[in-house]
Amino acid sequence: MSELREGVWAAPGRVNLIGEHTDYNDGFVMPFALPHTTVATVRRRDDGVLRFQSSDVAGPAVERRIDDLAPARATGSWTDYPAGVVWALREAGHAVGGADFHYESTVPTGAGLSSSAALEVVTALALNDLYELGLERGLMAKLCQRAENAYVGAPTGIMDQTASACCTAGHALYLDTRDLSRRQIPFDLAALGLELLVVDTRVKHSHSEGEYGKRRAGCEAGAAALGVTALRDIAYEDLPTALSRLDDPEIRGLVRHIVTENRRVERVIAHLEADEVRAIGPVLTEGHVSLRDDFRVSCTELDLVVDTALAAGALGARMTGGGFGGSAVVLADASMTPTLTGAILKAFASGGYAEPRVFPATPSAGATRLS
Ligand code: GLA
Repeated sequence: MSELREGVWAAPGRVNLIGEHTDYNDGFVMPFALPHTTVATVRRRDDGVLRFQSSDVAGPAVERRIDDLAPARATGSWTDYPAGVVWALREAGHAVGGADFHYESTVPTGAGLSSSAALEVVTALALNDLYELGLERGLMAKLCQRAENAYVGAPTGIMDQTASACCTAGHALYLDTRDLSRRQIPFDLAALGLELLVVDTRVKHSHSEGEYGKRRAGCEAGAAALGVTALRDIAYEDLPTALSRLDDPEIRGLVRHIVTENRRVERVIAHLEADEVRAIGPVLTEGHVSLRDDFRVSCTELDLVVDTALAAGALGARMTGGGFGGSAVVLADASMTPTLTGAILKAFASGGYAEPRVFPATPSAGATRLS
């Protein structure tokens, strides 16, 4: 029995290939899991106490009683994420009790690579196994999103948690965020001599602070003005008519981004399914321009990565994740990696910016039990 009461689980961070800010507009997204994971060693305990500790955060373990968990009692610390997951599971009627958690992570934090989702999903998966909840992965992701929205207080969509819970190695995950249907799309870049580089600008972003929520509210205002449930309901062909009905230039930009971005996800899938992987490059770059000019969530450093990579011969490049800092992705021939990395580091040094972290991203496995 004791073997059933403890174990080790891992959940990855993600990058998003295409489909940005579409997930809270009932739209399409296409992330894949990174090899970077948050690993949790978890032991069930039956006294209603949660004990959280992390190798990455100095200080003693934090203890909370499960009966005391409530969004109003969130502390603003990293432990709100796992505590929020326990709260969300119990709120949904799942019989979860106490546990000791020890975390260790290789997912960069504040880099737009979903370290929060990895922490939430690894917690949910461990509790699902230890308390034999039998939750389906998509539902687990939904409860993790509930934790982040209601407990942590960040108004994020469903993409990151679904990516961490449901991705599979060698694939990108196509997710329709309206009906939550998913499809694994083969995405084996190495076999084609291609590479997707992640460039972490080291500019920290934070989603609980204003701008993300403002974009979300603006999209909802646009949908309301156009009389639709969500911007997903505006067909690409109807975009000019929709834009002509909107007075506010900011809302027009938000609507244009979401409608064209959903179209870009469809174009990327069509290219991948037709084995035209190189052809996705320009679509990624178009996505960046739209996020920069219409959705206005890029920043100088992200634009510098994209401009430098394209000038140095990349096939395409874009910011990834929520924006306002964080990371960009660059698609290129694998043989170009040293040249591109050198050009990006040089551009940042000349501009007086902190040195970015550049690494190749291999589509990796979603959350799993290790032992
Ligand atoms: C963050 C959020 C996601 C999504 C992206 C933008 O990563 O957590 O839900 O909205 O931004 O695509």
